Amino acid sequence: MADLAVNLAGIRLRNPVLAASGTFGYGREYAAVVPLDQIGGVITKGTSLEAWTGNPPPRTVETAAGMLNAIGLENPGLKHLVEADLPWLASQGATVVVNVVGRTVDEYVAVAEALDARPAVAGLELNVSCPNVDKGGMAFGVHPESAYALVRAVRKRTRLPLLVKLTPNVTDIVRIAEQVRDAGADGLSAVNTLVGMAIDIHCRRPVLGNATGGLSGPAIKPVALAAVWRLARVGLPILGGGGISFWQDAVEFLMAGATAVAVGTATFVRPRAMLEIAQGMEEYLKCQGIERITDLVGAANPGARTG
Ligand SMILES: Cc1cc2nc3c(=O)[nH]c(=O)nc-3n(C[C@H](O)[C@H](O)[C@H](O)COP(=O)(O)O)c2cc1C
Repeated sequence: MADLAVNLAGIRLRNPVLAASGTFGYGREYAAVVPLDQIGGVITKGTSLEAWTGNPPPRTVETAAGMLNAIGLENPGLKHLVEADLPWLASQGATVVVNVVGRTVDEYVAVAEALDARPAVAGLELNVSCPNVDKGGMAFGVHPESAYALVRAVRKRTRLPLLVKLTPNVTDIVRIAEQVRDAGADGLSAVNTLVGMAIDIHCRRPVLGNATGGLSGPAIKPVALAAVWRLARVGLPILGGGGISFWQDAVEFLMAGATAVAVGTATFVRPRAMLEIAQGMEEYLKCQGIERITDLVGAANPGARTG
């Protein structure tokens, strides 16, 4: 039997395949086809202190090799997560990582603090792509200083394993990651979506209600893989993701230096993609005579400090 279990920055996972934030809701709609105790974990939709309404429609559009979304982080808020979603996820045997969003440092801290020491939560993933209202709307994760300040503040108020989800929309992602590490993060999550847009040439206006959105799916896989490759030298465990559709993609991310992977857009095309990916990885290990999936981490990356 090949061993698929991994420890991602202190989060114990039965296998290394997690549902990417925002592409799986809280798992309810998928549970009939994807038993939540058979995937590595569920990363929840970004959760804010109060409910957020999100962007005007249209909010999604298909592209040549993926999709654009501009949901605007609509979510029912912390209270709903704690009272309705966490108990249900626990009843399904899911390993739960809560994705946290906020418009101010204090909002992030309040959500993190409220979730600390809740047995239903295995870890937190900070989405630092949110606009910082105290800094003119610039995303927290594009400036080393604001990324550091946010992670430092959250770190002080939670003992849960803390992953920080990096945006690829920066000049030097490694520099941001080093700040995040120095601020006390336990792991990195890479990458979030790339900024993109589409124009309706008949109406002469952007297709998305928000004009621009986030590009995901197979189109971004080489970009995401290169980010993981570069981030592997920072010395923190990595949750890799971006365009993973098949088990071979996931193996590439592990070999670049990721300890586990997040799968998002592929689930919209093939709802059981995560199960297929975990199964494909297990068969690959057996064929190769490898006992543990962890032996693949960083296997193709001489600079990796995560393996
Ligand atoms: C519809 C949609 C909603 C998303 N919502 C969130 C979110 O709430 N928080 C977050 O950190 N990332 C969010 N993401 C980004 C995904 O978690 C993932 O990082 C990205 O889509 C790249 O992976 P993929 O190519 O496998 O989809 C969202 C992506 C999509 C497509």
